[in-house]
Amino acid sequence: MAFYQKMGEVPHKRHTMFRKEDGSLYREQVMGTKGFSGIQSILYHHHFPTAVKEANYLKDALPEYEKQDALRHRHFRTAAYDKKGDAVVDRCYFLGNEDVLIGVVNPAESMNYFYRNSDGDELFFVHHGTGKIETMFGEITYEPGDYVLIPIGTIYRVFPNDENRWLVIEATSAITTPRRYRNEYGQLMEHSPFCERDINGPESLNTYDEKGEFEVVTKARGSLHRHVFDHHPLDVVGWDGYLYPWKFNIRDFEPITGRIHQPPPVHQTFEGHNFVVCSFVPRLYDYHPESIPAPYFHSNVDSDEVLYYVEGNFMSRKGIEEASITLHPSGIPHGPHPGKIEGSIGKKETLELAVMIDTFRPLKTIEQARDYEDQAYMKSWVTE
Ligand SMILES: [Fe+2]
Repeated sequence: MAFYQKMGEVPHKRHTMFRKEDGSLYREQVMGTKGFSGIQSILYHHHFPTAVKEANYLKDALPEYEKQDALRHRHFRTAAYDKKGDAVVDRCYFLGNEDVLIGVVNPAESMNYFYRNSDGDELFFVHHGTGKIETMFGEITYEPGDYVLIPIGTIYRVFPNDENRWLVIEATSAITTPRRYRNEYGQLMEHSPFCERDINGPESLNTYDEKGEFEVVTKARGSLHRHVFDHHPLDVVGWDGYLYPWKFNIRDFEPITGRIHQPPPVHQTFEGHNFVVCSFVPRLYDYHPESIPAPYFHSNVDSDEVLYYVEGNFMSRKGIEEASITLHPSGIPHGPHPGKIEGSIGKKETLELAVMIDTFRPLKTIEQARDYEDQAYMKSWVTE
């Protein structure tokens, strides 16, 4: 994240002696992106972050995609995925490509191991439930509506308080706020629908100075690996910099509205390499006396559009339910269901809440997603 934060104890000057009470040195780790040219943080550990007793290959983690079938609009009722489990291994993926993986998970159990995704940033959208995520940068609590961003390589474990439901977006790149909302210094500008005050990093830093055997599962190069540390991996006494996990609640997104229909980019909240994430939040409708609030039919000539429906009546759709995912692929137009354009005229506001992911390379459907598919969706615009 592009603003400076500091937690715990750090020495006055970087790369200088920083000693414990017993006179031994804390171990300094520079963790950054783009070969020392991207954002970075400097962390101070009790133990060597490299002290790993064992490294094992676990398995290939690349999803199994379905064979290309007829190009069509797809609808997956993800609420039917009701397996409870932990926040990592029990993820059910629906769509993906080389840039992003999209799935859901119902965290209900605390993780008894640690995890890091070293292939890219992870973004969780908390649909239901509360809990906390302990990371090497400190602890983040979460509640419904929170987007939680975990940067590449961050070691973490999740403790749900109750039954949770999350939308999970795993990138193979960094996920940031939209570039057009930031000035040349990185600050979010006045026309941004949210600002730094709405973004919260870790709330507290718990330091575990413990020796023993601690399992860290690492996703890297599309595979899962197991590393056994000889110390507790959350042994950081302090850090500072620009790279850290943070959260932003969708209810803090201030919608941009207009006299006539505003295009989807006004809802943009995040961007990654070859994809964007947008938030559709409750808002006043267009106020031109002859405006049509529902969107027009549109062709995603070069992007795929995924919507995850959170709550409220979605203004342009029929037949979808809470936690539905729809995919409107590039190559064919899409738009409101019959009756929805007429129905929107004269309406003053919408209470819809949804998360949209637009990808600039085609998405593929993961084999298991078909178990949750509404086969009638493609024909749901035909009236007779
Ligand atoms: Fe669309």
